[in-house]
Amino acid sequence: MNIIFFGPPGAGKGTQAKIIEDKYGLKQLSTGDMLRAEVSEGTELGLQAKEIMDRGELVSDEIVIGMIAARVDSPECSKGVIFDGFPRTEAQAAALDAMLVERGQKIDMVLELLVDDEALVARIEKRALEEGRSDDNIEALKNRLAQYRSYSAEVLPYYRAQGDVPAVDGMKPIDEVTAQIESIFASQEAA
Ligand code: AP5
Repeated sequence: MNIIFFGPPGAGKGTQAKIIEDKYGLKQLSTGDMLRAEVSEGTELGLQAKEIMDRGELVSDEIVIGMIAARVDSPECSKGVIFDGFPRTEAQAAALDAMLVERGQKIDMVLELLVDDEALVARIEKRALEEGRSDDNIEALKNRLAQYRSYSAEVLPYYRAQGDVPAVDGMKPIDEVTAQIESIFASQEAA
């Protein structure tokens, strides 16, 4: 089963992906986490990406598609993947579809996590104090939210043209968000 968790910065994509991957034996692939690993290892790619990420803008399609392509065949992904923060452009979505088709697979579900801007800002401000992520500041967050509005208007219609994109109320407590996701899984399995 291949799933996309789609939503704005701070919506809970990573939080939910980590819970669901353990429960369902899936593998979370987060392009944000992969990029942050490159930054902390000081690789050439990380050096290129850091400034872009710190501004809250999008890293190039070529880089993020390459990172995903390098991981989809790993044994950990054999039961399926939760794509977290990818795709963010139509080009990324089309590249992902092509990658999966080559492997006789597809995207089985796209879930949209909905959270109000005010709550997103509060979550990111809290995480900034707890973790010190370099793009968790108000200027970068404004850009991340603006980017989200722009790329969601490109990516959501791409997937809606292929089928339903169920919405999840991401304003609820973490365990209730998980319960909503699991109930969507169950209803899709029953369909
Ligand atoms: P990325 O790492 O993907 O960041 P993001 O989309 O901004 O997402 P976040 O990690 O901030 O939020 P999340 O939805 O995962 O929420 P989380 O669970 O952490 O991308 C970073 C950058 O990398 C991008 O800006 C871009 O530059 C680059 N990049 C990445 N992918 C790219 C791509 N495909 N193309 C181009 N560039 C790319 O939760 C947030 C906080 O809220 C946590 O503290 C959590 O504990 C808390 N929380 C979660 N759920 C709840 C809840 N239900 N109630 C209360 N608090 C909650």
